Amino acid sequence: MEESSWIRRMFEEGCELKAQCGPENVFDFSLGNPCLEPPPKFQEALEAVVHERFPGKHAYMPNAGLMETRAVVAEYLTSEHGIAFGPEHILMTCGAGGALNVILKALLEPGDEVIILSPFFPEYRFYADNHGGTAVAVKSRKDFSLDLAALEERIGKRVKVVLLNSPNNPTGKVYDADSLAALGELLRAKEGRFGREIYLISDEPYAKLIYDGARVPSIFAAHPHTILATSHSKDLSLPGERIGYLAIHPNAPHARELANAMTFASRILGFVNAPALMQRVVAHLQGVSIDVGWYQRKRDRLCQALSEMGYSLVKPEGAFYLFPQSPMDDLEFVRELQKSSILTVPGRGFGAPGHFRIAFCVDDCVIENSLPGFRAAIENCR
Ligand SMILES: Cc1ncc(COP(=O)(O)O)c(C=O)c1O
Repeated sequence: MEESSWIRRMFEEGCELKAQCGPENVFDFSLGNPCLEPPPKFQEALEAVVHERFPGKHAYMPNAGLMETRAVVAEYLTSEHGIAFGPEHILMTCGAGGALNVILKALLEPGDEVIILSPFFPEYRFYADNHGGTAVAVKSRKDFSLDLAALEERIGKRVKVVLLNSPNNPTGKVYDADSLAALGELLRAKEGRFGREIYLISDEPYAKLIYDGARVPSIFAAHPHTILATSHSKDLSLPGERIGYLAIHPNAPHARELANAMTFASRILGFVNAPALMQRVVAHLQGVSIDVGWYQRKRDRLCQALSEMGYSLVKPEGAFYLFPQSPMDDLEFVRELQKSSILTVPGRGFGAPGHFRIAFCVDDCVIENSLPGFRAAIENCR
């Protein structure tokens, strides 16, 4: 518990501060909880599905999920990635977190290593640990791109999984197609050397939250032993509804066994299946997302204002986080910001001390009213 998330710790401290000072006087950038409501098409689909009446609507179903939903997801992925997915490659999950736990439960043997890239989403360490694995952090480069030389050095015979997250939480980095192709090559070379498969897991709940018209390159082009984990928590603003899916590369040599193992894992982890109502709803919403421009405007405003104040930052290409360098020890700086009622998360929580994270999925007024505090904090460090 001592090690558990800095994000939650900061969020909880924020709740106390809000009780003392009033919520309108606290600028809470601690949690990646989208404050944008789901798109109108979600409400329409939800209402239509709620009004449908037929026997077995609320019954148990195949553990992998409803066949019709999996078929729609497979069709969407086929069009996005240019590889033929079928429903047999898709498993509906309780969010991306559920998908990652199902995948790791199915893949890991005790003592297997899971490579994660720092800065990383903090839950990864606990997810690996849940299933007898050990998370091993490999640093990204200064611009948060993949450090292939560091990966080459660290991937040894105990590594079973390389877990990527693009667009990244907390940096907003999107890995480009060339570096993903080079990573795939590296993994195949290591597989040949150690005589065992190394799986690439790509965690992509922010794949549709991408700015300046960019695209997230298809991870399936990089390596055949690839599994995608994703959800509609961020792209449809539905984190409380716990709906997502995993997709197994159709050309993975053991695709069927993997699907069976993951279906079994979903059952014995107690998920049994993803929520039935939401499976029916998202079947109507593949390809739909919230207005990305809404987040892009916030990103642009914050990046411009903070850069002018002297903060050093890499402009995020996707997701809704900013990960500037901290002008002093990251925890001390987060405390400094708290003096102006600004809640952020220290970089050490993401395996990257010397930075701090700002989750900018907040109302414009929170951003605008926080700016004097950001200025005061950096000036106090000079
Ligand atoms: C990188 C990353 N992966 C996974 C998750 C979990 O997403 P979900 O709510 O869909 O389980 C999050 C949530 O913030 C995240 O940022």
